[in-house]
Amino acid sequence: MKFGYFDDAQREYVITRPDTPLPWINYLGCEAYFGLISNTAGGYSFYKDARLRRLTRYRYNNSPLDMGGRYLYIRDNNTGKYWSPTWMPTRVNLDEYECRHGQGYTSIASKFNGIKSSTRYFVPLGESLEIWQVTLTNESGSNVDLSLFSAIEFCLWDANDDATNFQRNYSIGQVEVVDEVIYHKTEYRERRDHFAYFACSEKLAGFDTIREDFLGAYRGWNEPAVVENGESCNSFANGWQPIGSHHVKVQLKAGEQRQIIFILGYQENPKDDKFDPPGSQIINKKSAKKALEKYLQPVNANKAFDELRDYWTMLLGKLQVTTPDEHTNRMVNIWNAYQCMVTFNMSRSASYFESGIGRGMGFRDSNQDLLGFVHMIPERARERILDLSATQLKNGGAFHQYQPLTKRGNNDVGSGFNDDPAWLVLGVSAYIKETGDWSILDELVQYENEPETETPLYEHLQRSIQYTLERLGPNNLPLIGRADWNDCLNLNCFSETPGQSFQTTTNKEGKVAESVFIAGLFVLACQEMEGLAEHYSESRQSTVETTFDLQPSAFYSNAASEMETTIWKAGWDGDWFRRAYDDFGHVLGSKENTEGQIFIEPQGICIMAGLGLDAAPSSGSGNAVKALDAVAEYLATPHGIMLQQPAFSQYYLHLGEISSYPPGYKENAGIFCHTNPWIMIAESLVGRGDQAFDYYTRINPSAREEISELHKCEPYVYAQMIAGKDAATHGEAKNSWLSGTAAWNYVAITQSILGIQPTLDGLEINPVIPSTWDGFSATRIYRGVTYHIRVTNPKHICKGVEKVIVNGKQIEGSLIRVDADAVTSEVNVEITMG
Ligand code: GLC
Ligand code: GLC
Repeated sequence: MKFGYFDDAQREYVITRPDTPLPWINYLGCEAYFGLISNTAGGYSFYKDARLRRLTRYRYNNSPLDMGGRYLYIRDNNTGKYWSPTWMPTRVNLDEYECRHGQGYTSIASKFNGIKSSTRYFVPLGESLEIWQVTLTNESGSNVDLSLFSAIEFCLWDANDDATNFQRNYSIGQVEVVDEVIYHKTEYRERRDHFAYFACSEKLAGFDTIREDFLGAYRGWNEPAVVENGESCNSFANGWQPIGSHHVKVQLKAGEQRQIIFILGYQENPKDDKFDPPGSQIINKKSAKKALEKYLQPVNANKAFDELRDYWTMLLGKLQVTTPDEHTNRMVNIWNAYQCMVTFNMSRSASYFESGIGRGMGFRDSNQDLLGFVHMIPERARERILDLSATQLKNGGAFHQYQPLTKRGNNDVGSGFNDDPAWLVLGVSAYIKETGDWSILDELVQYENEPETETPLYEHLQRSIQYTLERLGPNNLPLIGRADWNDCLNLNCFSETPGQSFQTTTNKEGKVAESVFIAGLFVLACQEMEGLAEHYSESRQSTVETTFDLQPSAFYSNAASEMETTIWKAGWDGDWFRRAYDDFGHVLGSKENTEGQIFIEPQGICIMAGLGLDAAPSSGSGNAVKALDAVAEYLATPHGIMLQQPAFSQYYLHLGEISSYPPGYKENAGIFCHTNPWIMIAESLVGRGDQAFDYYTRINPSAREEISELHKCEPYVYAQMIAGKDAATHGEAKNSWLSGTAAWNYVAITQSILGIQPTLDGLEINPVIPSTWDGFSATRIYRGVTYHIRVTNPKHICKGVEKVIVNGKQIEGSLIRVDADAVTSEVNVEITMG
């Protein structure tokens, strides 16, 4: 069953009924000011950091679902009847309803008793404010006398404190109301230099800033007393729960239309210019007023909206494809790319499933997220790489996360996840492959954000590799530390205390438990380092000092091949790659186990690192195919590939959080979608395009749209997890939006299946597609050059390039070198498979 449809021409998902199985959300903002918005206008806003600069409140885990938002109420003053044009929170049945989620904006339109309303929410580029453009049209056939009320609930900035520290918070709330603008200034009198404002384009009939006055005692947002009575209280909040509500009277003749604009914004003032007049306690409103003068004018708001649309056309235009599959086309061209940007902006901090309080920017997560968007805004990838690496520890290790506002490593979530450092190598390498910007390696970057610890970024990468080499276990495999990619495989935790964090508890010395996954990742990282090292030693500016000996590229190829030997010795189980060794030295992910016999992650990562692909028997020839066949046999379901099998039926002290989940959910045998593209990539590497694409389609949200009542999450973005076959709700998705799934699926479909791959030297095109396809075409902007690519597949094969013609000339191989003569600003590439 569907709850809407894709409007690909508009690049929108259109939701046609408000009662979706879960709030189907979208994001506003793409730079510093952000908001989450659901299809019924639920959600909240924040500036840069969802924890430390929260503008509005939202109640997770609430009933009814999705409480707190950008609410509007329309009241017919003749009848006293009122409703929410976005359905929530009154839930009055609307005659018409439609929500359109686009890139960085959401429009919700409805009709009730002949009154049409349409509200477009978005954040103009370069601004720290959101605009709500409300258009009311009277189609009732007679004149109407309406009241329009707005309502938001202010958060007292620190979202965690706001939800817990009531003894203080109930006494500190402060507002000002001047010229139709409600200013929220809690703590501005002391150490904060920022405030929020909520403005309206119209003359007000009244306003409210005291929540209980607006709602009435013990009432909910569904029936505010003020709306019921049609009269605001003009209340000024002192403490308790400050809100912002405007009341506008709207008389509309039959057929008449009116536009009303609301603006919610965030403003910082210089420390010494906070008050106006100086010495008073009144906010200096100059800068906010400037923005308001501009955007309260519909022409300027419309212009800002058009600029936002153009911006996304430009970003998405970096890669557009036309394949025989509509699900592929809309995901690659619109939604997957968009999700990659959102994921990069938010990391894992704020979604319907991430409260914005718990997690900052993840080290491994951000490095993977950038794989999916680096081609759209490489300069932001550069910035993120430098921010992340500045939190790196001197020993090469990493804080697991950092707070976006302070850019400092977040100690609460600790460090010692032994896979973390290797991801930095992959992130940097992807950045250089996309941009050719080798100068990033010479950037001087601190360790642990400490002044005077700067070294060139390149040395950070060396230390990342060194980190693994210095932490090998009894089998010479890398020690796992707190966990590797699988946060929940906590082999040194041994936690018996309820509620204790698996992420920060370590009760073992950590000298025994090893990870085959990190071993595979290490081989991959060494391969990337080889390419970087070769170039770096040639081009390095001699003025840049290094404190480490520069390793030649051979160092990395040797390290990789030694690790490969170790993997074949200790990490191969005969039919698939093993997962780990526990603190007792026992193997996990092996036929020897009764539960957790086979895991997906090492199959993906080891084959991506090239293990088992070579023809030479010494390098495990045929083993990649063997391992992938095992994945198909034991892990694949119609809803995607499960993380492991058999599921853990009980809690195992020595395995940690993985066995804490009921079977079929999350890391305990759920379909952890992040890992599925690794298998798609591996299938492409062995040339099985049909199988790779089949796996791609199984978890493609658009392809699952028809089963929305089961899938539950949004059909336009990936979710982190789909319940596995051991779960009662097999096929049900959770944790949509913020997941490495976005970046990796994008990489799998565009770089492995469609085969358009940036390399250090140029664009390589080597498709591994379904045999049924006649071909496909694509436009890719790469290092300033537009490549028009046409692939034909006359023999209906999955893999194999017979002929590559670049601007009319045939070239050898399938790599189009950036320095090739044929590469001008527009390049036509004709590829014949065969
Ligand atoms: C979550 C984390 C990610 C981790 C994965 C598996 O998605 O954000 O870092 O790799 O879970 O545990
Ligand atoms: C929880 C989640 C896991 C996530 C981790 C990070 O353990 O189950 O998926 O990666 O938290 O905080």
